Amino acid sequence: MAESMPDSRSGDPGSKASVGRRVPAGAPEQTLPKIIIVTGTPGVGKTAVGKLIAKRIGSEFLSLGDLVKTQGLHKGFDRRARSYMINERAVEWMLKGYLKDHREKRIVFETHSFNSILHKTHGMVAVVLRLDPPVLIRRLKGRNWPKLKIWENVEAELIDLSLYDSLKVLGKRRVYEIDATAKSPGNLVREILIVLHNGKGWSMKSLPNWLGKYDPVLLSRRIL
Ligand SMILES: Nc1ncnc2c1ncn2[C@@H]1O[C@H](COP(=O)(O)OP(=O)(O)O)[C@@H](O)[C@H]1O
Ligand SMILES: [Mg+2]
Repeated sequence: MAESMPDSRSGDPGSKASVGRRVPAGAPEQTLPKIIIVTGTPGVGKTAVGKLIAKRIGSEFLSLGDLVKTQGLHKGFDRRARSYMINERAVEWMLKGYLKDHREKRIVFETHSFNSILHKTHGMVAVVLRLDPPVLIRRLKGRNWPKLKIWENVEAELIDLSLYDSLKVLGKRRVYEIDATAKSPGNLVREILIVLHNGKGWSMKSLPNWLGKYDPVLLSRRIL
């Protein structure tokens, strides 16, 4: 894992300098990828930010969670985990068909994991939202989830799980990591559109390195 923090270098997508820059004039949307997957640990802000990106670029917004519920793409509700057990095969087929039918359209798709339901497709990128773990703990406590479920998700954030899933499926050039901590959804959308427009992809320097900042045992004591 990388040692550096994201804001320490010039030109970094998370730096104040780049946030202030504007997407160049002249229909920047045309340079954006066709399929923008907004991913990350539950609670990082995927729905809030994903919907706003879709609104800003005039594209459709799809949420894996909503699809699973509204189209019954699950194998029942796990009462202990308080979540639906996703029917991955059904979701995979549905998405494949959807992307085929909407080939010409741009889409923003929110999902907390996608390595078993989406395959690398032309024009697909992932935006991985990251959130400072104590902030994530506060947000997840607000959901009244079981303690263990909160801890499992905070642990996933600590070890960069969504990032590594994204890199595994799409590779560095199609993955963008954004630290969402202490930024409004509107500012995040601006930052995301700039990095997507620049098209440089992920590098080790953009890792937030939560494990360098927090002791997991001390963090777990705030939850368990
Ligand atoms: N950038 C942000 N700043 C402050 N609060 C946010 C931000 N993004 C999301 N939230 C809030 O955090 C909670 C979780 O956001 P949500 O978009 O549902 O996360 P996810 O879809 O990743 O589970 C919501 O209450 C939302 O209003
Ligand atoms: Mg969501």
